[in-house]
Amino acid sequence: MITKTAINIFKPHVSPTNQYVGGITRDESKNVQAAKLYKLSSNENLLGPSPKALEAIQANLHLLHEYSFQSDQLFRKALAEHHGHQMDARQFITANAGMELLELIARGFIEPGLETIVFTPTFKALENFAKLQGSKIVKVPLLEPDFKLDVQGILDTVNDKTRLLFLPNPNNPTGSLIPKKTADDLIYNLPDHVVTIYDEVYFPYVQSPDYARALDYIRAGRRVIGLHSFSKAYGLAGIRLAYAFSTPEISEYLSALRRPFMINTLSMVAGMAALKDDAHLKATLDLVNHEKPWLYAQLEKRGIHYWPSESNFILFKSPFDNEFFIPQMLKGGVMIRPGEDFGLPGTCRVTVGTREANEAFVSNC
Ligand SMILES: Cc1ncc(COP(=O)(O)O)c(C=O)c1O
Repeated sequence: MITKTAINIFKPHVSPTNQYVGGITRDESKNVQAAKLYKLSSNENLLGPSPKALEAIQANLHLLHEYSFQSDQLFRKALAEHHGHQMDARQFITANAGMELLELIARGFIEPGLETIVFTPTFKALENFAKLQGSKIVKVPLLEPDFKLDVQGILDTVNDKTRLLFLPNPNNPTGSLIPKKTADDLIYNLPDHVVTIYDEVYFPYVQSPDYARALDYIRAGRRVIGLHSFSKAYGLAGIRLAYAFSTPEISEYLSALRRPFMINTLSMVAGMAALKDDAHLKATLDLVNHEKPWLYAQLEKRGIHYWPSESNFILFKSPFDNEFFIPQMLKGGVMIRPGEDFGLPGTCRVTVGTREANEAFVSNC
């Protein structure tokens, strides 16, 4: 017999309102009548996936009936090699994309009552995952007009309950970079009980020399977690693959939270092949570095304000009301992301694409 009790079995902070909501997919836009649909809304690689990754997937399809690698040891060895053995293979934590790592980190360090600092506007997933673990979210706005980091504002919010600081560099959606001295001033002044997630998923696109890397801080013994993804420059967003790296102590701790067989055969072999695909990476960076100034010039011609970006996307002021502008773009065959999704009304974010896609975008501005 089942006895009814008044005991609540649901955790209070687990709620649909704490779920991350991404941009719309190509499939969700399939009613659009345009001859071609250019997806410039999710910072993907418009050149497509790394061909070497595709070859590796093909070559391993016949193994799908077998359990994949229980451990990701091979992949972590490849990552250590890729990083010139500056870190031991044990310092890498692999997962099904950056989002899964952000969720793992939140699970690892947050309990109800603890606190997470995020600057705003930024990519919201970490905030959502931390909330689902019961974290209080402390928001420190970036400084207008060009989204500079408020180092003192962040340091002022730190207390004994603070556990996580989310520091994407370059930032999404602003494309802004935290200069080295600013990042140093923050990271070297944080107490040891605050773990910084130094999210570098857009690092391949950075051109400024004034850029500190997660590894610099990790080697200096700071409690920093670096985050890299295969979704952006390697063109593998659909396969969901990423890795984090940190001090031996933090890496060992986070690795203990991983499931066995966590990443599947195809993504692992694709990732290892993509790491060796220098030609695809070069073509990707050449495209973005060539097309970004062209897009800047087109926006300037139209009197549209934009924020210079150190990444593969550009934030700009919408020339019309977004309620009209976004559907108009879509009708013209171009998907872009409304700034409202990031708390930046009246702005939009566009991915730097091929010339054909970029022309379609500017012709609808
Ligand atoms: C700043 C930032 N971090 C992490 C991610 C997560 O990427 P993924 O989960 O595809 O690896 C994104 C995706 O857009 C991002 O913009």
